[in-house]
Amino acid sequence: MKIAVLGTGYVGLSTGVCLSQIGHQVTCLDINERKINQLRQGISPIYEPNLEELLTSNMAAGRLQFTTSQPEALADAEIIIIAVGTPQGDDGAADLTYLVQAAKEITSYITQETIIVIKSTVPVGTNAVVKKLIEDRTGTTVKMVSNPEFLRQGSAIEDTMKADRIIIGSENELAARKIEEMYQPLNVPVIVTSTKSAEMIKYASNAFLATKISYINEMANLCEAVGANVADVARGMGKDKRIGEAFLNAGIGYGGSCFPKDVKALLHTAEVNGVEFPLLKETIAINERQREWLVAKALKRFGHLSGKKIAMLGLAFKPETDDMREAPSIPISAALSKWGAEVIAYDPVATENAKKLLGDSIKYAGSIAEAVYEADAVFIVTEWNEIKNQDLVEMIRNMKEPIIFDGRNCFSEDEIRACSAIEYYPIGKPSIII
Ligand code: UDX
Repeated sequence: MKIAVLGTGYVGLSTGVCLSQIGHQVTCLDINERKINQLRQGISPIYEPNLEELLTSNMAAGRLQFTTSQPEALADAEIIIIAVGTPQGDDGAADLTYLVQAAKEITSYITQETIIVIKSTVPVGTNAVVKKLIEDRTGTTVKMVSNPEFLRQGSAIEDTMKADRIIIGSENELAARKIEEMYQPLNVPVIVTSTKSAEMIKYASNAFLATKISYINEMANLCEAVGANVADVARGMGKDKRIGEAFLNAGIGYGGSCFPKDVKALLHTAEVNGVEFPLLKETIAINERQREWLVAKALKRFGHLSGKKIAMLGLAFKPETDDMREAPSIPISAALSKWGAEVIAYDPVATENAKKLLGDSIKYAGSIAEAVYEADAVFIVTEWNEIKNQDLVEMIRNMKEPIIFDGRNCFSEDEIRACSAIEYYPIGKPSIII
């Protein structure tokens, strides 16, 4: 099939690359010329495992193109996939500026046969609004499909190629069937729903996962208070198939480009429709509190943080990505600086992006060893393999004091007990002081 993908962010790029990989003829369109030039040279603008390999091989096979030219991408596209960003607006609602702009741009290229797919995360009712906008401009009926994505950064290709399910929401049966056919080579279960239900499935899923994280984080705090171990509790709970093991890792709160904004957007939808949804409000409040948890522990331990040198290990909102959006490292470093601590951070890939946000409010190290050198304490903020696999005995050797606040529970009790002297403060587990 001949497919045009609008937007080469995480979602658009991963989708375009994967659709070309399963044999479709894909052209990705973006207004950012620098990005398109980079992509044409086979360079991925984002850090994503396997993306660059698939990018270059599918370009070489002639199935994947990149352009800034609308006619080139859209003129004979059978399917147009809109995957532009829908950032959070000032009122918590999704900002649909880019989406509306994209919809206006495609109108002159749409025929009665073209199928328009909205992959961007959009509030319930948006597909209908876009449909009307295009129909008013073209004077013809258009075929719309809502097809939300569920890919995670750091495993975007795998999540697309081996998705748990594909959601197709449409009022047009033929269009729904065509999109089902487009994905057929993936051999993934397909659920066809109404457009509104498809739009809601995306928000309902992300808000549920965010709530699951807030639940286990609150549980972690209770475990700490009573002396239980949240990792064991989560393992025990997760074996129950009705609960499931995934997304029960207690930590320092969820971040990233989706959960924070999607939970707020869903809450906004609830409010404008006169529905209270206090559960979502608590999910957000717990997450905000959890981000401050390591700092609170450090304050309790030291009494004050003025002049303390804190080594922050990890900056990205999660491992395997250089994305800093809503990363817990941002409020944590701000709080530490506010209390007068000196922060020196290390991240395997996100440092450059972090510098754009945090500037010189903190210092940056080129290695774990450099960050922890003469530090009063270590804060583990992102569970990168490099950090988890670090020899703890070695790591604490050159610290001023061997004190670790682990926001991601990276080390086992055996690893900690191998140290001759250490103070280890994890999340939701008893502290270990040797
Ligand atoms: C998420 C959704 O998982 C994906 O389906 C959606 O399409 C986009 O948003 P992503 O933001 O890439 O993906 O990351 P994810 O792996 O879901 O993690 C989100 C946040 O939750 C991270 O900050 C992570 O550290 C945190 N998290 C996740 C936990 O704190 N505990 C967990 O058990 C799992």
